[in-house]
Amino acid sequence: ARSHDVAVDLLAWYDTHARKLPWRSPPGGRAPDPYRVWLSEVMLQQTTVAAVKAYFAEFTRRWPTVHDLANAPEGEVMAAWAGLGYYARARNLLACALQVSARGGAFPETEDGLRALPGLGAYTAAAVAAIAFGQRAVVVDANVERVVSRLFAIEDPLPGSRPSIRRHADTITPDERAGDFAQAMMDLGATICTTRNPRCLLCPLSTVCVARQTGEPERFPVKAAK
Ligand code: ADE
Repeated sequence: ARSHDVAVDLLAWYDTHARKLPWRSPPGGRAPDPYRVWLSEVMLQQTTVAAVKAYFAEFTRRWPTVHDLANAPEGEVMAAWAGLGYYARARNLLACALQVSARGGAFPETEDGLRALPGLGAYTAAAVAAIAFGQRAVVVDANVERVVSRLFAIEDPLPGSRPSIRRHADTITPDERAGDFAQAMMDLGATICTTRNPRCLLCPLSTVCVARQTGEPERFPVKAAK
């Protein structure tokens, strides 16, 4: 199948099956708030969606804008972060809020601009550029790695296959709705294309998935022998 079909089919699935998450705006609704997108993506870097929900609600209740967060005492932010772990993330969060607040509260809109902010790595910069600003960015987290490895039955083992996975992800990323596409890949990986017992019968991409055709979708992503 052509790359076009993958994005069209996946976006159609997302329109009816997207998870309702507090940092997403309702389908067809307002553009997402970059502050909320950034905050959620930083929280989600090493923490599950289920665990992040309550922290996201508390942070946005206490600090509804990036200016509010920038003006918060560091001790209060660290205390509110307690339990999420990786405390360098919380310090970077505050440093980033200060920089963005100093720019008038507007986040940079490009991947490169976002990448220059404290705490934003390649993943987070791409995710915020796509989700908050609709930029065509290739967003690859662990869920997306698994989905792409299976779609193309990539036999090279992780971690060496990462550049190849990224190139394949690039070929299926659409010019329009890149943020929805990225989040659709994440939702597919979290709910259908799971590590164990993938639900291929429910998958909108099963007809184009090469791993499915091999009969052993769970074999992907192949991992280097320990
Ligand atoms: N994991 C990281 N970012 C996410 C998002 N925007 N939606 C769902 N899962 C995610």
